[in-house]
Amino acid sequence: MLMQASALPLKPFRRGKVRDVYEVDADRLLLVATDRVSAFDVVMEETIPYKGAVLTQITAWWLRQLEDRIDHHMLSADIAEIVREVPSLRDHEQELAGRAMLVRKSTVFPVECVVRGYISGSAWKEYREGGTLAGEPLPSGLLESARLDPPIFSPATKAEEGHDENITVERMRQLIGDNDARELERLSRTVYESGRRIAAERGIIIADTKFEFGRMRGTGRDTGGKVILVDEVLTPDSSRFWPADRYEPGHGQPSFDKQPLRDYLDEEKRAGRWDGNYPPPRLPKDVIDATSARYLDIYRRLTGHTLDPNGRH
Ligand SMILES: Nc1ncnc2c1ncn2[C@@H]1O[C@H](COP(=O)(O)OP(=O)(O)O)[C@@H](O)[C@H]1O
Ligand SMILES: [Mg+2]
Repeated sequence: MLMQASALPLKPFRRGKVRDVYEVDADRLLLVATDRVSAFDVVMEETIPYKGAVLTQITAWWLRQLEDRIDHHMLSADIAEIVREVPSLRDHEQELAGRAMLVRKSTVFPVECVVRGYISGSAWKEYREGGTLAGEPLPSGLLESARLDPPIFSPATKAEEGHDENITVERMRQLIGDNDARELERLSRTVYESGRRIAAERGIIIADTKFEFGRMRGTGRDTGGKVILVDEVLTPDSSRFWPADRYEPGHGQPSFDKQPLRDYLDEEKRAGRWDGNYPPPRLPKDVIDATSARYLDIYRRLTGHTLDPNGRH
């Protein structure tokens, strides 16, 4: 069932570009990944079949893989279990299946924790222009798409609107304090390095990714104040995924994710039919279908299973 926007009998908490977030109670949120798609920070009018379920189930899969390395927000991504926990969602079981995740509510740190294991995109642009990344000098002579060992941690601020802004680690320390800054960097590196290794075994390069962390609310002896991994984790929306068998440094890489959509929009821009702002152009069916197929393909390559749209495993 396609979803552009949700309307649930719960208190709205936040609506992001892709996710609708509801408050279940003082300690829990319901994250609903819709089928909305954004590119160049503009949300399209059309929806991408299965996209919401793919994003939620990839995050759930990673959190199960990484369970012994990181504390996280997921309570359940199984719709039957969620409806048992939140009976008021009974009539919405069908539309939520696969795409909903019940999570621990946290206070999200106001920084995006970006880890780059390969130099690409805005990082390549900065390096090419001045030899730096996140303001820090890098070795000279790196090729575009080169692997970075160790990976580079390059935080950004969470912009309420428009593009996120890259900041230095020093600036991150000023924003959230030395201890938390150090801890978030350590956790980001741990999760990225595990993720990069696991994905590589499946023929996928995770070139870079963005994590969000939160501090758990409440005063529980084991849980109050603890830093946990929240939001989506190592998905094609929060990361760059490249097919490993086509990897070749020296130029940009074909990407697994929204490439058909980006190519189409680039063409519309080049032809002078779109200025890059809202409203976006209408998407032809073949672009929608190709994008949907990409998401499903990534899910299958990563997990080794075909997506069960109901999110049962
Ligand atoms: N466990 C959590 N506690 C509180 N907020 C969360 C949690 N997990 C995710 N969020 C927030 O939910 C929102 C997810 O919606 P999304 O569509 O990704 O938004 P955005 O357009 O900001 O990327 C984000 O603002 C994220 O910070
Ligand atoms: Mg987001």
